[in-house]
Amino acid sequence: MQVCAPIVELRAARAALRGDVALVPTMGALHAGHAALIEHARTLAPNVIVSIFVNPTQFGPHEDFERYPRPIEQDLVLCRKLGVQIVFNPTPQQMYPPQRIATQLTTPALVGDLEGACRPGHFDGVCRVCCKLFNICQPQVAVFGRKDYQQLRVVTAMVEDLDLPLRIEPMDTVREEDGLAMSSRNRYLDAEQRPRAVGLYKALCQAKAMIEQAEETDPAAVEEAMRCVLRTHQLEVEYAAVRHPLALHPLDVIDPALTGGVVALIAARLGATRLIDNMVLGVG
Ligand code: PAF
Repeated sequence: MQVCAPIVELRAARAALRGDVALVPTMGALHAGHAALIEHARTLAPNVIVSIFVNPTQFGPHEDFERYPRPIEQDLVLCRKLGVQIVFNPTPQQMYPPQRIATQLTTPALVGDLEGACRPGHFDGVCRVCCKLFNICQPQVAVFGRKDYQQLRVVTAMVEDLDLPLRIEPMDTVREEDGLAMSSRNRYLDAEQRPRAVGLYKALCQAKAMIEQAEETDPAAVEEAMRCVLRTHQLEVEYAAVRHPLALHPLDVIDPALTGGVVALIAARLGATRLIDNMVLGVG
């Protein structure tokens, strides 16, 4: 496995690969969810590149950029074990040389709400870094988890609209035994907070039961029920929303005939830790 930091080094290593490349973009602190993305990537192409880069441009000024975990040695051990060909681990200076004039990329129809509203500028940073990673690594396919549902929609829309020459492959969320979605930020949770964090999953299960079993068609009723479960777990709710699965716009009614169902999305805080989760409901 090659570990590359400067972009020229990565480009040379990439050029030496024979056959297609699957990219798994990450910010490191790899867990079983990332391992599933990498394993899936291996089924899609003979070569896998994992990028490990805590991207400063997608963090707001008061967010957790500084304290974001960076266990690079452990991450490299996992990548090696999973048969990754190249790890791209640039520094912020290598990705964003200080003399450069920044580009702004955005998908306005998808970013005005939910994560985009709670984290202004977040998706500009995500689009910019993903576009750079796609240009630098030249993958045929890039694997993204459904856990960051809005991110997956935004990146997919950007790739489609800019005709970037790669495919975005979505991958289901990997969960702990109790249902908590795997996330690098779960490391922030202390022993008292960890059991309460499962409230996000329970709220989504409540939405699932209401929509798929009780055939509830009022999004507001489902949203209020999710908020209620979150509050029961002493979670501070940022949003609990039922949306169109592709356009992410609010719905007047949950139409059981809507192709692709609906998506329920949650962001909630436990102390200083902010967690997100989602579930696509009413499909099949
Ligand atoms: O999902 C993430 O880990 C990040 O947002 C990504 C896609 C690696 C871009 O920095």
